[in-house]
Amino acid sequence: MPQAAGESRPTHEPTIPELFDLTGKVVLITGGTGHLGSAMARALAEAGASVVITSRDAPRAEAAAAALPRRGETATHHGLALDHMKPDELDDAFSRVVDRAGRVDILVNNGHEALGNDLTSVTAEQFTRHLAHATGYFILARLVRDYAVERAGPASIILLGSMYGLVGSYPDAYEGICSASPVAYHTLKGGIVQMTRHLAAYWAADGVRVNCLSPGPFPPERAPAAMVERLRAKLPMKRMGQAHELKGAVVFLASDASSFMTGQNLVIDGGWTAW
Ligand SMILES: NC(=O)c1ccc[n+]([C@@H]2O[C@H](COP(=O)([O-])OP(=O)(O)OC[C@H]3O[C@@H](n4cnc5c(N)ncnc54)[C@H](OP(=O)(O)O)[C@@H]3O)[C@@H](O)[C@H]2O)c1
Repeated sequence: MPQAAGESRPTHEPTIPELFDLTGKVVLITGGTGHLGSAMARALAEAGASVVITSRDAPRAEAAAAALPRRGETATHHGLALDHMKPDELDDAFSRVVDRAGRVDILVNNGHEALGNDLTSVTAEQFTRHLAHATGYFILARLVRDYAVERAGPASIILLGSMYGLVGSYPDAYEGICSASPVAYHTLKGGIVQMTRHLAAYWAADGVRVNCLSPGPFPPERAPAAMVERLRAKLPMKRMGQAHELKGAVVFLASDASSFMTGQNLVIDGGWTAW
């Protein structure tokens, strides 16, 4: 393909270690205290980034940040309070992140409050509140985009979706054991995949990439064993995902290894959505 006017070919082809290297970058990851968030935060730190972990609870965020590995002389991690369900507070929370870390290059919108009510019992109020996770993800993403434009630098934004944003529930997995996967969750995560495409289309010209990372089943230890067994039996790979199996994907999306990728949904689900 011929180069368009104004495009220049690199004089040096980046190596694989260079493409995945996050040295000098600052990542903001929400819910970095959680099951998947803590593994992704470690991955980003291991790739050389400085990581700002947020939680709704400042001491919890600080403890998680203090436990992260540091690669290189310059990486410094921070823990701060941020609740994306309080959109009026996000401007101030983001300013505090920038003040503390000096800059933000990468956002991982990962924080999530689980909902215990499925389609048989969810109230209108609970349903509406659950969808507000999308509002929080959007407001934070726009703050990062505006900040990138202001300082004329690139940014990578990653939104956590789910296999349940792509397919309907698997009713047999839950029958007689626990409530089903919440209809509000399917609605939310399908919307996150679509929001990714929309923001990517608008912000590509600003040098801001937006991608979605959709995990399949990565149940925490507290998940009912009988339900996990039914999920395992249905999965092509016949086992559950382990949190570290998202580490490569999040570093790929955060780094220049995915520099020509935007508006996409990377699905890490052991084959759940393959059949
Ligand atoms: N685990 C899976 O199998 C799976 C599958 C598909 C998709 N996902 C997605 O992956 C992401 C992480 O899931 P997970 O399993 O790691 O969940 P998790 O262990 O419950 O962690 C979620 C974290 O989000 C934080 N959080 C909760 N409400 C928040 C809010 N209002 N604002 C900011 N942060 C908030 C919590 O931290 P604090 O309590 O410290 O605030 C919590 O540590 C979620 O988006 C989830 O939908 C998970």
